[in-house]
Amino acid sequence: MDLKLGNLTISPPLVLAPMVGVGHSALRTIIMELGGVGLLSTEMLGARKLPHSNPLYDPFLIKGDMEHPLSYQMLVANPEDVAPAMDALHRLGADAVDLNLGCPAPTVRRTGAGSKLAEDSDLVRQVVAAARRATTLPLSAKIRLGPELSEEKLRAFCLMLEGEGLDYLTVHGRLQKEPFVRRARWEWIAKVKEWLTIPVIANGGIFSVEDAKRCLEISGADGLMIGRAAPATPWLFAEIAHAIYGGPALAVIDRPAIYRRFVAILEERFPPGRHLGRLKEFSHYFSKNYPFGHHLAMAIQRSESVAGAMEVAEAFFARHDRGAGLAG
Ligand SMILES: Cc1cc2nc3c(=O)[nH]c(=O)nc-3n(C[C@H](O)[C@H](O)[C@H](O)COP(=O)(O)O)c2cc1C
Repeated sequence: MDLKLGNLTISPPLVLAPMVGVGHSALRTIIMELGGVGLLSTEMLGARKLPHSNPLYDPFLIKGDMEHPLSYQMLVANPEDVAPAMDALHRLGADAVDLNLGCPAPTVRRTGAGSKLAEDSDLVRQVVAAARRATTLPLSAKIRLGPELSEEKLRAFCLMLEGEGLDYLTVHGRLQKEPFVRRARWEWIAKVKEWLTIPVIANGGIFSVEDAKRCLEISGADGLMIGRAAPATPWLFAEIAHAIYGGPALAVIDRPAIYRRFVAILEERFPPGRHLGRLKEFSHYFSKNYPFGHHLAMAIQRSESVAGAMEVAEAFFARHDRGAGLAG
């Protein structure tokens, strides 16, 4: 079940998705503490900026000791930016490197990166080849299914990526422009799995143990990547690891304690100006745990300080989390 990639073992094969604004050190740490995750990911990091960033101050590079293994996601548009960025990732102690070939955000596309880069297969080939030459670390790419459904194009693209030496491929089962509300096409991930010999990680729409089982069944993938469910239910990795991969059961899920821990790590590691925005992002997802969670999310959005947000949160928890935590 484990994924062995050179010196790196992903065990269990459950990966935290790269998520800008969400997948920073505080979220990564609480997920690691809850267990069940095999590989963490950074937020996407611009290749041009990486060689000049200071890991002590750059909030995208701040990390704690337990955040391993950690895959760094590179957002890149030009092959010549790859080697200097890779040098920086080596200095930062990356355990693996992922190339962003799927981001559809207009701000990213305007720079020629993400899904825009993926439209130029030849340029992608050069980027992947440059990355492969520049590192012996496990190298992956994260793709969507493309601009339109085409087995022929997707197959050629995936085989090209494999041919350039990727160690594994993550497939987000949606087309470039498809919104998150649309069901992910796990059956298309199955096609990719059949075409390739390298491991394939399935991504998109996994919010429960049931989803995880169904996705594995339909896609035949070698592992799963989880995005939005991670800030909503950071214990989901542990639950899936237990249900599918024989990991230990979680005794108790103490939601207020997890929320407080998240805030404590924010305050400990990030500069003060970076706390509230990150807390608001996290709360947007975390509040989905509660039947009237939108009240919590809205009140946090209106808060002008972390102390104010915590007051609101504690009052909410006192009403909704009385007594012990939920059974795992
Ligand atoms: C807030 C947010 C930020 C994201 N940032 C990135 C990113 O930096 N790099 C990337 O490849 N994908 C990014 N994604 C996409 C996720 O990695 C993932 O592919 C997507 O959310 C689908 O998985 P899910 O259904 O489990 O959330 C982001 C998604 C969200 C919701």
